[in-house]
Amino acid sequence: MELKKGYFITFEGADGCGKTTQIELLNNFLNQKGIETLMTLEPGATDLGKNLRQILLHYEKPVSDEAEMFMYLADRAQHAQMIIKPALDEKKVVLCDRYIDSTVAYQGYGRDGNIEQINILNKIATKGLKSDLTLLFDVESEIAQNRLGKTKDRLESQGMEFHKKVRNGYLELAKQNPQRIKVINANRTIDEVFLNVKNVIGEFLNI
Ligand code: TMP
Repeated sequence: MELKKGYFITFEGADGCGKTTQIELLNNFLNQKGIETLMTLEPGATDLGKNLRQILLHYEKPVSDEAEMFMYLADRAQHAQMIIKPALDEKKVVLCDRYIDSTVAYQGYGRDGNIEQINILNKIATKGLKSDLTLLFDVESEIAQNRLGKTKDRLESQGMEFHKKVRNGYLELAKQNPQRIKVINANRTIDEVFLNVKNVIGEFLNI
């Protein structure tokens, strides 16, 4: 089934919200319907990004907030221009695990960064490429943290206060962008959440 144009759908939420499972389920579902997709992620979809991901998640020495932010932005610039934009030009449905809202939620709300500046830098990194639809998987921070395994990466092992700020930041973003961001209650079974995802996507893509 060829679509009239490409669609850019992003998946957001705190660590442990279950979005990665849902993106995989949705990718299979759309492919079964004959819709061409590109399933991708940030950070780490490009070769350059894989190197940045390794540093971002596993570097053991202190990382300044700005260095962290610029690495996420560098990953995004490479990803948006080399992978996402070409796939959209080929009329694919791009399913992206994290995008610009992650930087606003984590480096902005989570680390008390300057959100106005982050918005400008996101725009520069992506050359203005925005998602058409964003699914925000929302779950209480305690539940999300319990879902994570014992070995946590650099970001996952920030304290509970950080994760609560990230969650509230996401909810604030959803409030500010009700048309683009759809909040999904992720404190349910995988099947229940996926039913919700299918309804939102079905309506959005008209399928
Ligand atoms: P992942 O585990 O969902 O792949 O994401 C990697 C981690 O990076 C996750 O803890 C969220 C964090 N992150 C940011 O802090 N800022 C960003 O811009 C992105 C894309 C991810």
